[in-house]
Amino acid sequence: MSNIGSYEERVKNFSWDIAKEVLDWKDGELLNIGAICSDRVCGMGKGSKPALIWEGFGGRSARYTFDDLKVYSNAFAGFLREQGMEPGDRICIFMDKIPSLYFSFLGILKIGAIVQPLFSAFGEESLEVRLASAETKAILTTVKHVKKVRKIRERLPHLEKVVVVDGNPDRLKGDEIFFDVEKYPAIKEFDVYRSDSETPSVLHYTSGTTGQPKGALHVHNSIWGQALTANWVLDLRDDDIYWCTADPGWVTGTSYGIIGPWSLGVTQCVLDSGFTSARWYQFIQDNKVSVWYSAPTAIRALMKDGGELVKKYDLSSLRHLASVGEPLNPEAVIWSGEVFGGLKFHDTFWQTETGAIMISNYPGMEIKPGSMGKPFPGIEASVLDLETHEPLTEPGKVGLIAFRPGWPSMFRQYWKRPDIYRSKFVGAREDAMPDELRTDKSLWYVSGDRASIDADGYFWFVGRDDDVINTGGHLVGPFEIESALVEHEAIAEAAAVGKPDKVNMEVVKAFVTLKPGYEPSEELELDIMNFIRKKLSPLAMPQEIEYVEKLPKTRSGKIVRRYLRALEWGEEVGDLSTLSDE
Ligand code: WT7
Repeated sequence: MSNIGSYEERVKNFSWDIAKEVLDWKDGELLNIGAICSDRVCGMGKGSKPALIWEGFGGRSARYTFDDLKVYSNAFAGFLREQGMEPGDRICIFMDKIPSLYFSFLGILKIGAIVQPLFSAFGEESLEVRLASAETKAILTTVKHVKKVRKIRERLPHLEKVVVVDGNPDRLKGDEIFFDVEKYPAIKEFDVYRSDSETPSVLHYTSGTTGQPKGALHVHNSIWGQALTANWVLDLRDDDIYWCTADPGWVTGTSYGIIGPWSLGVTQCVLDSGFTSARWYQFIQDNKVSVWYSAPTAIRALMKDGGELVKKYDLSSLRHLASVGEPLNPEAVIWSGEVFGGLKFHDTFWQTETGAIMISNYPGMEIKPGSMGKPFPGIEASVLDLETHEPLTEPGKVGLIAFRPGWPSMFRQYWKRPDIYRSKFVGAREDAMPDELRTDKSLWYVSGDRASIDADGYFWFVGRDDDVINTGGHLVGPFEIESALVEHEAIAEAAAVGKPDKVNMEVVKAFVTLKPGYEPSEELELDIMNFIRKKLSPLAMPQEIEYVEKLPKTRSGKIVRRYLRALEWGEEVGDLSTLSDE
């Protein structure tokens, strides 16, 4: 597993088969992510190597080897199969970053089922729409979160099993099932489902401007993209102690908080406790973290607490830093270089849909602070003219970020929404099916972001091409927030947009119009906030509600969020002539 090799050389000599060589994987071997990340690592003589170093709230901690990972994921697999779960069934994991999340993730894949990780902070409504959409058959959760499941259960006819993996079995209600992974009879060798490259693996829900969130479906073949980028971009090596700060409710936490690193047999740390800068530095010091993958929001929060705090800790174990999720400010890159002994955060760009890193500051390549870097070897990336959708050749011109289909970790469909999948490809035939689209090299997959490319081939992020709000690296669809708001008796119409925030880049702001008979007041605002709090995740909660007489709309009646957004950002509002004033 050598990471030596220049970017240019690697681009020139690239083939995805190199990923197989990196894992020493031979054609005909079992392609199952659950098994590759545990059983296979053990089979290579690393069974007693630490796989997971875990710390939770209140000083709780635990360590697990790859042997443990194998046995405990086998336990989940055995139990779920016993419960009648079958290949292709959607099984949701809804818990904090506790060890059972990681074991069950691999266990679900081992039986060929589809794992649907959902962020544990989701409120009932966010949870319900995603479970209903996926027709999820079982949910694995904890005492802390099962209450939310109880409230929506009767509206989810497909949800056959509710499994609680901690606490006291006597406290369960109805047909809820208790499962204690440590007490389950150890299965040394599990009969893993014979998945192949196109067997569905992970279903991540992601938000767009309109409609409910969509389920981006991945397949076991994604592992090649995740393993090779973890090796080449995150620079993971056998003796690293790696920390990915993301929650597996989001794609970073699965692609690079589970699959990439463990497929390479790398030791990972997980910190399941609230953020403070001191706690994070302590965690790096105590565990001798060498590679750290985090997000701009966190880096900005660390910056706020200053460089003096950093000096109180021994962070000399750090070797490589990377970031994802939002634009990484040039100041953050420069600051990290100053306070972490010359180490600069390497920005990486990708999406739930791409499954793995697409554009990045490659180790060894000169970093231009503020740029996302260059496409990963084997990835053909471009920016397309906003109108004609032709690739732009002029350096510095802003267009749509687009990729040629066909990379291994590309999503295979939006769950049951071939129409939306198709709409992401420029030049697609109207009746083209997902399987044709994802392999058609004459098409472009469009990410929904805008960027420019400079004369050296570096990509510079400009902004989203839609109304999706990126708050602290998490995408929030305005539709979900607006739907929750208009359920309140006083609200006639609502529009949610991002407003600037020092740490989170954007936070949600809602504009509302009231129904006749209601008057704006602080009391009403409080009442509205309390009303939606239970429905949404804390991320999606508006930080501010502004009452307006009317919302800006197009002639066809669509709310023009970009107008409200521009006002918040103090930007040019643009041409309003297409708006109606009705
Ligand atoms: C969207 C994808 C993929 C990891 C987590 C987010 C934005 C992502 C960057 C970056 C500027 C970025 C884009 C993208 N984004 N990385 N380095 N610079 N923006 O996954 O929830 O699917 O969000 O996050 O807007 O489309 P996601």
